[in-house]
Amino acid sequence: MADPLETLLHKRDGRALSRGQIESFLGDYVAGRVPDYQASALLMAVLWRGMEPAELAHWTRAMLASGATLDLRGLDRPVVDKHSTGGVGDKASIPLAPAVAACGAAVPMISGRGLGHTGGTLDKLESIPGFSTEVPAQLFRERLERSGLVFAGQSAEIVPADRKLYALRDVTGTVESIPLIASSILSKKLAEGLDGLVLDVKWGSGAFLPEPERGAQLARTMVDLARDCGLPAVALQTNMARPLGRAIGHTLEIEESLDCLRGEGPADLRQLVCELGAEMLLLVRLVEDLEQGRRAIAAALDDGRALGVFRATVAVQGGDVGCLDGERALPSAPGRWTFEAPRDGYVGFGDLRDLGRAVIALGGGRRRLGEAIDPTVGVVLGVEEGEHVERGRPLATVHHRGPRGLGEAQALLARALELRDLPHVPAPLIRGRIP
Ligand code: URA
Repeated sequence: MADPLETLLHKRDGRALSRGQIESFLGDYVAGRVPDYQASALLMAVLWRGMEPAELAHWTRAMLASGATLDLRGLDRPVVDKHSTGGVGDKASIPLAPAVAACGAAVPMISGRGLGHTGGTLDKLESIPGFSTEVPAQLFRERLERSGLVFAGQSAEIVPADRKLYALRDVTGTVESIPLIASSILSKKLAEGLDGLVLDVKWGSGAFLPEPERGAQLARTMVDLARDCGLPAVALQTNMARPLGRAIGHTLEIEESLDCLRGEGPADLRQLVCELGAEMLLLVRLVEDLEQGRRAIAAALDDGRALGVFRATVAVQGGDVGCLDGERALPSAPGRWTFEAPRDGYVGFGDLRDLGRAVIALGGGRRRLGEAIDPTVGVVLGVEEGEHVERGRPLATVHHRGPRGLGEAQALLARALELRDLPHVPAPLIRGRIP
């Protein structure tokens, strides 16, 4: 066993770690022989010092080797997935995965929980009563053959290193690092035995790396790393200077995802789902070009096939499908507070992290390792970026559970939503594609 203290001093002093140091540190951390405080110190050193490409490849492979990988060879369909670097209100995976499965691909989606100011796909799905994201590795193939889709988390079996590091990063200020984000995402995706991967790399104040140039650097790092590991990958750089859709908060985002799966809902969410879905279908050659892909995804949303796949997946994973069919409502928070425009102006967004933090203040996110979250709280916006509003117009509705955190959430919301004197043109949803 390499001395963990030596390893973290090495990184602290700006030197590249060897393959042996990395394998030893991560192996011992997952086995419980390296304590969280030393792992936190190493993560902080990586955040400040970065990693060289070969070092990052060793780190990612060591994370992957910490658990089992799925062997999906011989499945009757191509296997494809997408992953987002995370953002405020980013629920795109929830309508996207079933739409792509409805178009003939298998999607073994391994996602994360809430991280920093963002909500996680797993937590959102688990807000459907009974839904379990704990899927044993040996059940993936059978479930993919049945519905074409599995939604699962990192587990004690699959990428346990990411499960531990992800939770630790969330509470130690070590999320915003290109090598740590790239290795976290790719270790999960490499474990899935994919034929292709589409990456949704966010830029803007709600992203972990707000500057578009750093987002592009992250996108290139991940596309190169994936290809080095034999996985064809494409990245889209997309807008997180405003939230995706209008709902932020777990059950609220499930409701908005269901609208999208019914061919309705916010235009930006649908557009992103169609763009990412088209890239996924093209990457595994289920369509001949992007336009055909966009049409295929839009049709799956509009004719109910995507909703059918989602419904079947929820049923298989133990979720209450009555909540999807309107027989029962999803659980909701009892309180409502309306945020009214304090003056006339054009709607803009300040620091979008404040919007994510408002949901955390209401109880909808974690501030400590393993903390329980309230899936029902959140914010629903009532206006679009760039829209002109008059004083008193409802800008957003806060769903809350009494006074807990409400004052803090109100203050954060007032900072996140700006009323400007001059009109501005919102930035486009898609900024670029890599390669
Ligand atoms: N998504 C992940 O899976 N990991 C990160 O580090 C960031 C977003």
